[in-house]
Amino acid sequence: MRRTLRAAPATVDLGGATVQTWAYDGTVPGQEIRAKVGDELRVRLINDLPEPTTVHWHGLALRNDMDGVPEVTQPVVAPGETFEYRFVLPHPGSYFFHPHVGVQLDRGLQAPLIIEDPTEPGDYDEEVVLVLDDWTDGLGPGPDDVLAGLRRTGMSMGGMSMGGMAVDPANPLGDDTGDVAYPGHLINGRLASAPFTVASAPGRRVRFRMVNSAGDTAYRFAIGGHRMTVTHSDGFPVRPVEVDTLIIGMGERYDVVVTAGDGAFPIVAVPEGKDDAAGFAVLRTASGDAPTADTRPAELGGGLLSYADLAPTEGVTLPARRPDRTVELLLEMADGGRRWLINGKAFPDHDPLDIRAGERVRLVMSNQSMMFHPMHLHGHTFAVADRAGRGLRKDTINVLPGQKLSVDFEADNPGQWLVHCHNVYHGELGMMTVVSYV
Ligand code: C2O
Ligand code: CU
Repeated sequence: MRRTLRAAPATVDLGGATVQTWAYDGTVPGQEIRAKVGDELRVRLINDLPEPTTVHWHGLALRNDMDGVPEVTQPVVAPGETFEYRFVLPHPGSYFFHPHVGVQLDRGLQAPLIIEDPTEPGDYDEEVVLVLDDWTDGLGPGPDDVLAGLRRTGMSMGGMSMGGMAVDPANPLGDDTGDVAYPGHLINGRLASAPFTVASAPGRRVRFRMVNSAGDTAYRFAIGGHRMTVTHSDGFPVRPVEVDTLIIGMGERYDVVVTAGDGAFPIVAVPEGKDDAAGFAVLRTASGDAPTADTRPAELGGGLLSYADLAPTEGVTLPARRPDRTVELLLEMADGGRRWLINGKAFPDHDPLDIRAGERVRLVMSNQSMMFHPMHLHGHTFAVADRAGRGLRKDTINVLPGQKLSVDFEADNPGQWLVHCHNVYHGELGMMTVVSYV
């Protein structure tokens, strides 16, 4: 699979608004890359941005030198330069890619990466990729302005509540999932005013591959009139579970299958904990009136997926094994939200987590802040710690306010790997560190 990928300023039509932003080959999201597991991917990045950039292949256990983290795995790709990313696709699933420089991701530089598994039985008739995204650029302050504002004033930029630490099951991520009020939310690059439409037929089994590429927003997702069977989390198969609604944090992916009803149904992604506009699309299998963008289907208040409901399928469990090493990650806010820390430090000031190849490592993440953090580990898929070795496999996991959560991984892919919060603002304000072994 060969492709060129040109990162450049672009004028993009979001449906209802035309914006000046940065994009891959002129579209937001960029055109998906689809290939088969075991294929070699060769992507020539052309940097026509006014800033340096890189590409990170989110969720893949790939070669360290292709991971796209500036000064950690490669030098930046300067304006006017090119760089060839070349590696074998190690495992199937739903992924995405984005720069790992500043908040470029939040300008619209991101696209799905779908790695097919030819041996998967796949009990569905068709599939649709849905990219959920929040949007400031061109509709309000741009992402870099937001970041500058946060650096200056911390959380006074937005409406973060200093409310209690207790986790409310109806609002598990806390009172506010982010710092910034977003004027728009996108599903597949479309604002709610001109929504993306999924055309299907009654009774068809539709697989949705969902990616949350937002910089700052977790979404509560539902499809009016439908229950969803969750089949994959972060690319890895799970034992199927039926739910009405699920929360998808920044950097997480879910695959679900639904049996399409007869009519036109709202597909809704509501910013979790924010009283805000929502991402909106339509599933249409018959003519007739479309639902309106302010529709809030009853499913949003129905059975909510929790990590505890999910278990990996037989082939993808991390074998039961006692951890050789436990590494604590203390997640904290400092300076009124101007800095976000791991173990008291803001990246690039950090203490690399020193582990040895071959070890089973347990990361114990304690969230001592009032906001949730979708924590992401590069180069590995961890398992939620579980004595029986039945822990859910993921690469990005929401650590709730006040929560302590443990995940295990095998140190089987040597290199320098970032672990960080996938709220890109928290990450850029310091909530990143490096796991390192040779
Ligand atoms: Cu999408 Cu460092 O990750
Ligand atoms: Cu965070």
